[in-house]
Amino acid sequence: MMFFEKFFKKKEKNSFAANENVQALHKNLPFTASEQYRMLRTNIQFTLPANVKCPVIGVTSSIRGEGKSTTSVNLSYMLAEKGHRVLLIDADLRLPSIAKKLDMKGAPGLSNMLVSSNMDMEEFKSDIHDQWYILPAGDIPPNPSELLGSERMEKLLDTLKEQFDYIVIDLPPVNLVTDAISISNFLTGMIVVVRENYVTKHDVDNCFRQMNLSNVNILGFVMNESSQGGGTYARRKNYKYYKKEQ
Ligand SMILES: Nc1ncnc2c1ncn2[C@@H]1O[C@H](COP(=O)(O)OP(=O)(O)OP(=O)(O)O)[C@@H](O)[C@H]1O
Ligand SMILES: [Mg+2]
Repeated sequence: MMFFEKFFKKKEKNSFAANENVQALHKNLPFTASEQYRMLRTNIQFTLPANVKCPVIGVTSSIRGEGKSTTSVNLSYMLAEKGHRVLLIDADLRLPSIAKKLDMKGAPGLSNMLVSSNMDMEEFKSDIHDQWYILPAGDIPPNPSELLGSERMEKLLDTLKEQFDYIVIDLPPVNLVTDAISISNFLTGMIVVVRENYVTKHDVDNCFRQMNLSNVNILGFVMNESSQGGGTYARRKNYKYYKKEQ
């Protein structure tokens, strides 16, 4: 697959260790990486409240480059692979990356949909899996934070929830802009990606402080590029232990 090769090329260039445990994306994945994302899928499903028809899961982090988009792509793909109808939304409206990662057009997308509501979701069905839909960011708007927290966004999500089993939303980092906090009222919960040996404890504390102040429902966090191999997921209570031990 085109995007699969492209993903690997990108990975070689960045500073992540060349570790075969952390390759990602798709059904040709090496066993260990697929297993990590499958485990993430299972843990998320246990963490989510049982009575929610279509959970809306936000994915954020403290700073840029921690692996939010990679996690969003793989988590949503794994949910689709399980037979759920899944929508992945790129809501990093300032620096969108999902379309590029998956070799698709970046517009029209979310920002356009927020202005004209009569767009057909079938247009966004991925070629990779027929239960996997991908809504790119669309044209870059002047006011992302306002848009993401707007009544229009809430209405759009309500409409989309009728059509899908899960919605996964890729967001910008909390410490940089208010976008992730702005949309948080419309989410079932948030996953926080923490890239080991990259983000400082101060950054992570700052991020969690902001989310706590805004009462964001944190589902758990993903340790990306974890020394335990490939990435691990922990529920929120484990984060408290992590905080105490530091
Ligand atoms: N577990 C991983 N193993 C190897 N490479 C990874 C892993 N996670 C992310 N990467 C790579 O690191 C880079 C940053 O990842 P990604 O784009 O997912 O981060 P992000 O948090 O979405 O960044 P941004 O804040 O800029 O949107 C990408 O080139 C991606 O391919
Ligand atoms: Mg990203």
